[in-house]
Amino acid sequence: MKNKKYILSVLLLICVLFTSSCSIVVNETVRNTSELKWWQKTIAYEIYVRSFKDSDGDGIGDLNGITSELDHLKELGVGAVWLTPCYVSPQADNGYDIADYYNIDPAYGTMEDMDRLILEARKRDIRIIMDLVFNHTSDENEWFVQSRSSADNDRSDWYIWADPREDGSAPTNWRSIFGGSAWEYDENRGQYYLHTFLPQQPDLNWANPEVRKEVGNVAKFWIDKGVGGFRMDAITYIKKPAVFEDGTPDAEDGMVGIHSMTANTDGILDYLHEFKSSVQEGTDIFTVGEANGVSAEDLDKWVGTDGVFDMVFEFGLVNIDLPDESNWCETRDWTLFEFRSFFQNSLRSSDKVGGWFPVFLENHDQPRSINHFMNGEDDRTAKAGALATLLLTMRGTPFIMQGEELGYVNVDWASIDDYNDISTKNHYEFALGEGYSEEEAMEGVHHFARDSARTPMQWDDTKNAGFTEGTPWLPVYPDYKEFNCTAEKEDPDSVLNCYITLSRLRSEHTELIDGAYKDIMPKNNSIFAYTRTNGNRQATVLINFTSEKVTYDTELIKDAACIFSSSSEEHEGILSPYEAVIYENVYQ
Ligand code: NOJ
Repeated sequence: MKNKKYILSVLLLICVLFTSSCSIVVNETVRNTSELKWWQKTIAYEIYVRSFKDSDGDGIGDLNGITSELDHLKELGVGAVWLTPCYVSPQADNGYDIADYYNIDPAYGTMEDMDRLILEARKRDIRIIMDLVFNHTSDENEWFVQSRSSADNDRSDWYIWADPREDGSAPTNWRSIFGGSAWEYDENRGQYYLHTFLPQQPDLNWANPEVRKEVGNVAKFWIDKGVGGFRMDAITYIKKPAVFEDGTPDAEDGMVGIHSMTANTDGILDYLHEFKSSVQEGTDIFTVGEANGVSAEDLDKWVGTDGVFDMVFEFGLVNIDLPDESNWCETRDWTLFEFRSFFQNSLRSSDKVGGWFPVFLENHDQPRSINHFMNGEDDRTAKAGALATLLLTMRGTPFIMQGEELGYVNVDWASIDDYNDISTKNHYEFALGEGYSEEEAMEGVHHFARDSARTPMQWDDTKNAGFTEGTPWLPVYPDYKEFNCTAEKEDPDSVLNCYITLSRLRSEHTELIDGAYKDIMPKNNSIFAYTRTNGNRQATVLINFTSEKVTYDTELIKDAACIFSSSSEEHEGILSPYEAVIYENVYQ
């Protein structure tokens, strides 16, 4: 099995090297900023609600905490704030298991707090983006409680139920994304239900028109509240195949990852077109789908005028080092060619149909980008500056993950018991079951644990980094004395000030928002270099991805003015380790 993965990785590398040897030009048609929609011109920011700011001392972040820190977001130039789910939930998966879509979980506040947040944000030109989790609900949702109560109630067909095999075992050998069988037996119905994620997260049956109507009602309820859009969770899993069959086992447990059996099933786009036309038409909200399993080549069906979403998060880039998402212990080396080509392929594919691209390097399920994409231990601030430059100057809407603007790195807690995330724990157990040692399993955890993106926000150097007066639900990272919002604000060379500067530059040099993208050093494996051009304005961005000094041809920046450098050493034609620079030409 390991051999098969190795061969696949080599094939992938060959394909990428082949495609990256030709310069890819995306969208040479110049568009003006005025033609773009509000969400294409803004910067988006993801808040992990549980960890952002606690206002009542219970150790859990809440809505009033967010309202109290809106000015931080304003200063970053943020216009859209994606909140991770804050609806009523038993929190088996920290809110991605929703028991009531129409109410706020008491741990996060009340509906009045939400109304106030929406209002206060709007005063600052910030719109709230809700996370809609519609592939599944919580098993405590009244829809599921009713569905499991008998085989013939009004909601009996709202979830995916199937009979056991003759020997009583699960209908198929599918492994859920969080590990273990994707089927759970229910005594009451004498049947199994499907859960792509945890057993506490039963999958909704989108084939039932009543389910589709009700999820539309949920979305409309939140639009009426005044939110600016939706992030659609795990959306590629909503349509199940017509027949449930075993897949070829892909690990020692005899199971096959459910992703390969159910993701992106034919016909899924019909459901999503229906959702779009019933919910979105006539509004100015935007939608961004979490579309694991949609490749760059397929994006043209998902976004653009005839697509189903305004933007789609696809995962080629963040999975660059994981040949198999279910196995954190097997990683692969990658090159800047590959890294770059993920951006370019996605840009090219979405741009072909007038679609738009969400640029992201982190989210609440991913490791911190400094660890993920930059080698070596040192130069944390420089690395963060390089990645910030990429995030804020690539064509598309940048999505900043909370803490990314402060230069956070992965946690490396000693024991698996120190971790909170259920998926992290399950990945660890899976690794042990596959025969990896405890040390190897922990190494995987240190690289990929979702907890790294979820530690409390570090506001200042007081107790618990100013996150809470109580005991934080997840430990604060010990580096908070140095890396915190207050200290970084005062340090002109901090990561935070780098973000603030880049955000300001975006609004002043608008080709960084609407300009055509062109790769200008396609054969270079150290520098990511591109231009952003609109009319007579051209920005040239050069980012050194290595820990060495590198040189480049100064013809690339002929007659241009340097408008940004992430390092204090300025010298044309040379980039210091991890330095990023932006030059601008304004032609007459
Ligand atoms: C994707 C979300 O981003 C993740 O945090 C969650 O665990 C799964 N979907 C299940 O909803």
